[in-house]
Amino acid sequence: MFIYRPSDHSAWCLLLSLLLLPVWEAGSGQVRYSVPEEAKHGTFVGRIAQDLGLELAELVPRLFRLASKGRGDLLEVNLQNGILFVNSRIDREELCGRSAECSLHLEVIVDRPLQVFHVEVEVRDINDNAPVFSVSEQKLSIPESRLLDSRFPLEGAADADVGENAMLAYRLSPNEFFILDTINKKDKGKFPVLVLRKLLDREENPQFQLLLTATDGGKPELTGSVTLLVVVLDANDNAPVFDRSVYEVKVRENSANQTLVIWLNASDADEGTNKEMIYSFSSLVAPSVRRKFLMDNTTGEITVNDLIDFEDSNTYEIRVDVTDKGSPPMVGHCTVLVEILDENDNSPQVFVTSLALPVPEDAQVGTVIALISVSDRDSGANGQVTCSLSPHVPFRLVSTFKNYYSLVLDSALDRESVPSYGVVVTARDGGSPPLSATASVWVEVADVNDNAPAFAQPEHTVFVRENNAPGRHICTLSARDPDAQENARVSYSLVERRVGERALSSYVSVHAESGRVFALQPLDHEELELLQFQVSARDAGVPPLGSNVTLQVFVLDENDNAPALLPGGAGELVPRSLGAGHVVAKVRAVDADSGYNAWLSYELLQPAAAAAAGGARGPFRVGLYTGEISTTRALDEADAPRQRLLVLVKDHGEPALTATATVLLSLVESGLAPRASSRAPEGAAGAPTALLDVNVYLIVAICAVSSLLVLTLLLYVALRCAAPPGEGAGAGAAGKPALVCASAVGSWSCSQQRRQRVCSGEGPPKTDLMAFSPSLPPSSVPDMEVEQQSVGGDQYRKVC
Ligand SMILES: *[C@@H]1O[C@H](CO)[C@@H](O)[C@H](O)[C@H]1NC(C)=O
Ligand SMILES: *[C@@H]1O[C@H](CO)[C@@H](O)[C@H](O)[C@H]1NC(C)=O
Repeated sequence: MFIYRPSDHSAWCLLLSLLLLPVWEAGSGQVRYSVPEEAKHGTFVGRIAQDLGLELAELVPRLFRLASKGRGDLLEVNLQNGILFVNSRIDREELCGRSAECSLHLEVIVDRPLQVFHVEVEVRDINDNAPVFSVSEQKLSIPESRLLDSRFPLEGAADADVGENAMLAYRLSPNEFFILDTINKKDKGKFPVLVLRKLLDREENPQFQLLLTATDGGKPELTGSVTLLVVVLDANDNAPVFDRSVYEVKVRENSANQTLVIWLNASDADEGTNKEMIYSFSSLVAPSVRRKFLMDNTTGEITVNDLIDFEDSNTYEIRVDVTDKGSPPMVGHCTVLVEILDENDNSPQVFVTSLALPVPEDAQVGTVIALISVSDRDSGANGQVTCSLSPHVPFRLVSTFKNYYSLVLDSALDRESVPSYGVVVTARDGGSPPLSATASVWVEVADVNDNAPAFAQPEHTVFVRENNAPGRHICTLSARDPDAQENARVSYSLVERRVGERALSSYVSVHAESGRVFALQPLDHEELELLQFQVSARDAGVPPLGSNVTLQVFVLDENDNAPALLPGGAGELVPRSLGAGHVVAKVRAVDADSGYNAWLSYELLQPAAAAAAGGARGPFRVGLYTGEISTTRALDEADAPRQRLLVLVKDHGEPALTATATVLLSLVESGLAPRASSRAPEGAAGAPTALLDVNVYLIVAICAVSSLLVLTLLLYVALRCAAPPGEGAGAGAAGKPALVCASAVGSWSCSQQRRQRVCSGEGPPKTDLMAFSPSLPPSSVPDMEVEQQSVGGDQYRKVC
């Protein structure tokens, strides 16, 4: 194979052959042949024997032979027919290189005679060499930023042939980026040049292969090719991009710091540092947003960096820039819309905006007491507030508008039972878990005069000793009014009426404010045993309310009346024949008092003269309780004819009051029944009365009362004894009526309707029995508590 080397050697050879040619032609037999190179063995070249003028027959005898300079065996002569033919392969390129002319010089020698002939055999070129590139692949590195029409020279191919066979034409495989141009170098043929026809884009075609083919001008033509590997070099011609321009993310409010909001991934089509990116907040991002979020410059992660409060802002718009490290750098943009999800982190708030307090207790159901508004800064269910009231209050909530409520009265109020209410309004939102808040409303109930003053009992019973000091306090009445202030300020007054001839107010008075009841003048049991009247209590409300109480004042008897003697026989005639035990006369006396104070006893006062006469017992005695004067023995002559008896009549009061009656008896022998006579008493008290009949009736009445009393006492004692021990009064312990009546155990009073009735229209008269504690002085009775038992029943009452 012949390898072309650009040198001057070929030019020199060409010149030499041109100079030698005429010499060779002049000195030779002018025989020239032409044979193509690479001809087959035996290819005819020429009739050399004939052309040299030699006979075929003499060839062998004359030792016809070819002598070539070193290359004798390329051509051979057939001695039979004298034809020169190709003996072995002739390579023109081997023989002559790139010389345009190439010939073989043959010397033909014959003997006998020795002759030398010169024969030129031209070796013609055939296209037996293809164009050849020095490498199989050419690598071109072209920056993608090269401009159009940029030229890139290529190494051409070489062809060992000459002439047309070495005339190369180049061809490029079809492609969109390059076309082929050629430049002609002087003497050295054409060289291929790539010309950029379309801008390169590394990101699209980072490298590609082209095929460069060289074709020579031979017939047939031969080709050679080389692969062109075009490597496109990167330029920072791509900005980093996000796969979306807007990202929407949701973040819970109150997310902890470092919570990932979004991980941004930008991409850059460039390579190397041109695709290294730095993330940052855009300069348009407000400082308040910058504070809340943190951007990782290298990874593109955005994290929470501060408290995220939905109520502060429920969305954030974050513009993000991403910059690559190319030169110049390129920037990409995106926007992150952060939606904040609400958490139930705000408690509802309750406002009591208006109050109509206090509420009058007679307010109508439905009266608005307070206006309440609620709010919750959260949204959705977290901000939906429902209101409720504390239980067991007479109010309810009425929703007037969303989140506005009225607290209205739901049932009737009564200040006297509940003066105020603590109402708790609870607001609860719909979050899970729900949050709640409360507000307290203190509802005061204002008083209305709806209660009359009331006495503890409708009737009071008081006992007052007669002959009290004028102005004596006998009792204090008190009525309670559960209302407040003026509505509870009670004043007392008498309900005026007439008592006999006089007005009630001349007996008693009531202090308007204190309710103290005073007796204005001394009361007289004998005149007025029971004073019954009404006291009215009124409050100061508008309009006022009032109520009445009945006061029964029993006037207790004092021993203020001495026994009074009733006129009897002034002088009784007593027959001397009378035996012992005969009633001869009777002393009659009455006592205006009652009870013990009116219980009279009689005894005989011995005349001093009779006592001095020897102490002999008189013939008469007087019955202790009857006052009957009877004989103690049979009368005899020794008894004086005129007897004068002094009878002491004594009541059982404390102290006792007495009267003395003088009874004159005349002893007669026989005859009509005598009549005793009593003179005007010499005692302390008592006015003699002349009405005999009245006296008799009085005595009968007293006896009746006494017997009734005894009966009652018996019954009473029997009842008390049947009762458990210790409960009864002292009177019951003795068990006998006589002891009850004894002054040693106390005083008692038995009253019966027998004088002026104080109370009118009272129904049937009552008989009351009063037993007082013996340990207390009688004078203190009206002020003390007394246990009173009504005969008609056994209920016990406290009286003032
Ligand atoms: C970015 O890439 C990371 C890791 O591959 C992935 O977790 C994240 O979701 C991507 N971010 C976006 C917005 O696609
Ligand atoms: C109290 O008594 C008086 C007189 O009897 C009467 O006018 C008045 O209505 C009574 N008041 C009440 C509340 O009963």
